[in-house]
Amino acid sequence: MAEVILKDVVKQYDNGFVAVKKVNLTIPDKEFTVIVGPSGCGKTTTLRMIAGLEDITEGKIFIGDKVINHVSPKDRDIAMVFQNYALYPHMTVYDNMSFGLKLRKYPKKAIEERVTDASEILGITDLLDRKPSMLSGGQRQRVAVGRAIVRKPTVFLFDEPLSNLDAKLRVQMRAELQKLHNRLKTTMIYVTHDQMEAMTMGDRIVIMKDGDIVQVDSPIRMYNHPVNKFVAGFIGSPSMNFLEGKIVSEGSNLYFVYGKSVKLVVFKEHQKIMEKYVDKNVVLGFRPEHVEDKIFVSDAKPFTTLKSTADVIEPMGSEIYIYFKVENTTFTGRFSPKLRVKIGDKIDVVVDMESIHFFDIDTEATIV
Ligand SMILES: Nc1ncnc2c1ncn2[C@@H]1O[C@H](COP(=O)(O)OP(=O)(O)OP(=O)(O)O)[C@@H](O)[C@H]1O
Ligand SMILES: [Mg+2]
Repeated sequence: MAEVILKDVVKQYDNGFVAVKKVNLTIPDKEFTVIVGPSGCGKTTTLRMIAGLEDITEGKIFIGDKVINHVSPKDRDIAMVFQNYALYPHMTVYDNMSFGLKLRKYPKKAIEERVTDASEILGITDLLDRKPSMLSGGQRQRVAVGRAIVRKPTVFLFDEPLSNLDAKLRVQMRAELQKLHNRLKTTMIYVTHDQMEAMTMGDRIVIMKDGDIVQVDSPIRMYNHPVNKFVAGFIGSPSMNFLEGKIVSEGSNLYFVYGKSVKLVVFKEHQKIMEKYVDKNVVLGFRPEHVEDKIFVSDAKPFTTLKSTADVIEPMGSEIYIYFKVENTTFTGRFSPKLRVKIGDKIDVVVDMESIHFFDIDTEATIV
């Protein structure tokens, strides 16, 4: 049983800086949890407190039902994989993988078995005699993971383990780590600043900002139901588009209006909740995939269209990203590759008003 629980955990560094502010988090047994957030938000600090590499200023950390605040790192039954792999350069792969077990005085035979098993799982059996300098980045990464696996820890901690790899290898290792998790069924906590890694790997995502946890959810819920504008903008690539405008009431409908030309009808199921924002400013948010060129929409409803000009065009093969300008604001849209558009062309962009979000202007909380 290796549930990890953080209870009112605070980290204040010696210089007075509070890197983690009263964080509460339950990481369920056997789950793959990804902690994600912008640089400096406190991810590594949180992980290092769990590992025991950093003192906890306030609060408690439990592993299983045991408080581990004062348990030394080597007795926590945790293995950590770092961004720089931290392999010993003068040792062979075999020795790097077996080192921790030797320190713990495991019998030679048991060490051999574990290293053999782990290297088979990771496909590095042929590399056991090599030194780290003779390995590629991806191979080093596997050795670092192997060194963690042989310990058979109850919790794995990963701190941006793929950030030194090129894009293609990163995608491959992402899949391999997921397979490893399926196979080992051990609690894994994975830190990254890359929202794509978080979306693709996590059973659950924990999103942090400025030392606080902002939202904990499955990737899909995080994407479809962000709690605020920060999460909405952070998760998803290209990012959600935002526009500040006003809610007005006309006849039996509410509209979002901006500048001279933008007037979008509020979706009927959003009308009731938006009533209290009439004559107030809100932020509209729509994802790049929630737009379409009007020529492809035979039944476009009135007041769902943005009159725009194509500003930048990026053909991606399977789709086209068009940066389109509405008055003085530029938005990103993902369009069908069948669309023939040149820079400077006028396009009527239909927004799927059912899928949009509104955010409170003061709190940035999601309204719908
Ligand atoms: N030893 C330290 N003393 C003082 N402040 C520190 C110390 N270590 C980290 N910090 C600060 O604490 C904050 C959180 O740092 P942390 O390393 O946890 O961020 P992170 O989320 O892992 O960022 P990144 O994505 O860049 O790795 C940062 O503002 C950092 O400058
Ligand atoms: Mg970090």
